Amino acid sequence: ARTAAVIPAAGRGVRLGPGAPKALRTLGGTPMLIHAVRALAASRAVSLVVVVAPPDGTAEVKSLLDAHALPDRTDFLVVPGGESRQESVKLGLDALPPGHDIVLVHDAARPLVPVDTVDAVIEAVREGAPAVVPALPLADTVKEVEPAVTTGDPEPVVATPERDRLRAVQTPQGFDRATLVRAHESVTENVTDDASMVEQLGLTVVVVPGHEEAFKVTRPLDLVLAEAVLARRRL
Ligand code: CTP
Ligand code: MG
Repeated sequence: ARTAAVIPAAGRGVRLGPGAPKALRTLGGTPMLIHAVRALAASRAVSLVVVVAPPDGTAEVKSLLDAHALPDRTDFLVVPGGESRQESVKLGLDALPPGHDIVLVHDAARPLVPVDTVDAVIEAVREGAPAVVPALPLADTVKEVEPAVTTGDPEPVVATPERDRLRAVQTPQGFDRATLVRAHESVTENVTDDASMVEQLGLTVVVVPGHEEAFKVTRPLDLVLAEAVLARRRL
């Protein structure tokens, strides 16, 4: 089965601070989005990459992709994104041509995911899982709280889930295409990952081992880490 990757890259990156849209910020001189596209295209199974660009940045994203060579086996498409990540992924899925039975959804904000992680996700979908997520055990203990109305006020703890049973989820998340399309058509409330919509369909999502280098660039400190990882790779 052929595999396509949808890369939501339409966010502003508010938590990263002022500047260009996050996916266009550079790491080692190359836009984060280009790193992310190359990371997915590095998998021999991936024959199409659909980049969901900032609505006012599709032309810029197209010319960036034209300027940075991808493997010959990999085609790309650029479509404008939406208000939420979920909406952006949906717009990417709508643009997928027939013939790709496996779909990966990968955050442009995870530019350094190793190809072995990408391949492990694809492999688990090929073996029959309708939805696959890479994830890691947590370093921190997690508490559920009653959120304060005013930011900064003390918050009462409601529960402490057993840490050994928790996983921090990354991307690429991999799906049987028809399942992901159905999930996006039937789930209306806002969610923060694609797999949770498949869970809401009553299907089992499976976790495979993630990788530390698949971390999401969210805050300024994450850029420092990403630059260091890249510099180490270039040694
Ligand atoms: N994303 C998107 N469309 C949106 C919002 C987010 O395609 N309307 C993408 C981002 O570009 C990113 C991924 O979803 O690659 C994960 O989102 P996140 O890390 O939250 O990025 P931003 O929403 O850009 O950052 P922030 O929440 O800090 O503004
Ligand atoms: Mg966001």
